[in-house]
Amino acid sequence: NEKTLLDRLKRPLKDLRISVTDQCNFRCSYCMPKEIFDKDYPFLEKTELLSFDEIIKVAERFVASGVTKLRITGGEPLMRKNLPELIGELNQLKGLEDLALTTNGVLLPRVAHDLKKAGMDRVTVSLDSLDSDLFGRINGRGIGVKPVLEGMRAAHEAGLQVKVNMMVRKGVNEQEILPMAKYFKSTPYILRFIEFMDVGTTNGWNMKEVVTKEEILKNVQSELPLQTVPENYYGEVASRYQFADGENEIGIISSISDSFCSSCTRARLSADGKVYTCLFASNGTDIKTPLREGATDLELDALISRIWKNRTDRYSDERRKGAATRKKIEMSYIGG
Ligand code: GTP
Ligand code: 5AD
Ligand code: SF4
Ligand code: SF4
Repeated sequence: NEKTLLDRLKRPLKDLRISVTDQCNFRCSYCMPKEIFDKDYPFLEKTELLSFDEIIKVAERFVASGVTKLRITGGEPLMRKNLPELIGELNQLKGLEDLALTTNGVLLPRVAHDLKKAGMDRVTVSLDSLDSDLFGRINGRGIGVKPVLEGMRAAHEAGLQVKVNMMVRKGVNEQEILPMAKYFKSTPYILRFIEFMDVGTTNGWNMKEVVTKEEILKNVQSELPLQTVPENYYGEVASRYQFADGENEIGIISSISDSFCSSCTRARLSADGKVYTCLFASNGTDIKTPLREGATDLELDALISRIWKNRTDRYSDERRKGAATRKKIEMSYIGG
């Protein structure tokens, strides 16, 4: 694909992360605390959601605009009915190189095979602890570790590549860093630690609760020596480290202590059809209305080009300068 759109900071548009639902079967305290995301929460109405045909059209225009990687997110994307059908269509897009999914894993045993058959390349499963009691408290639904591990295994057996995301929050699950590193070292799965971020407005984020990349590294290296590995592709979010004995690797996503905005190539599409150019954005651009009013491909391409060329977002770089007081979208709405 020879087309590349550059934003105002000369960053190319390469990825589109597509949220297919704002619903989730978990209530993680840092993402959808159950006191707020209860039965009265104004989740999106069905008519507000983009249909599969609409998602495919938007994705097609983004791929025609230079995007080579799609990631399906939620909420919990596997809660969207017939998801493999959507994957099958997305997989046909010419120029697409990577098709991935972010999930909490518990619905994977049911669909992993169909996802793979439809053309999905890989999945990233979230797991914050190996201790079922703690994990059940974190996910707000008392769900233990076993169904998540079974989801990973189902994905692996279906032929999908599997990565694991662990959000690390001080006072909550930092004691799980080493057990997680040890456990996943001898599996086919790559574990990545994510610094607790100030996404959204409901998780009560505080700098004191962040365990930094350096602290995580020190903790792992106290028992398992590591060496750095170069990035897999331009703008990779995780810094990579290989275990010194060569068995497996880990990654660390350090949005707080070592931000990576200068190579951020990601656009995000919400389930109700708005395009966001940052995980911490206040506002998105409505692409659903033009779509429903019959915009041509050329018109959609022009809209995408205008959105990207005007982009200046670098929230994580600016966080310390008070950007954190702005209004922000919720993680469950945009999918991380
Ligand atoms: P690979 O394609 O496997 O390299 O993964 P990815 O970079 O797509 O990562 P993934 O979707 O697994 O992201 C992991 C987590 O990193 C997300 O859930 C977010 O919490 C965080 N993250 C991803 N992209 C961004 C970003 O652009 N900015 C910030 N601040 N965090 C991000
Ligand atoms: N900080 C860091 N990671 C988060 N995630 C959700 N909310 C946050 C946050 N505030 C993670 C989830 C999941 C991925 C989609 O993003 O744990 O692994
Ligand atoms: Fe659901 Fe993922 Fe948010 Fe947890 S972090 S509530 S699993 S969307
Ligand atoms: Fe990209 Fe915004 Fe994350 Fe920076 S904070 S890396 S601009 S999504």
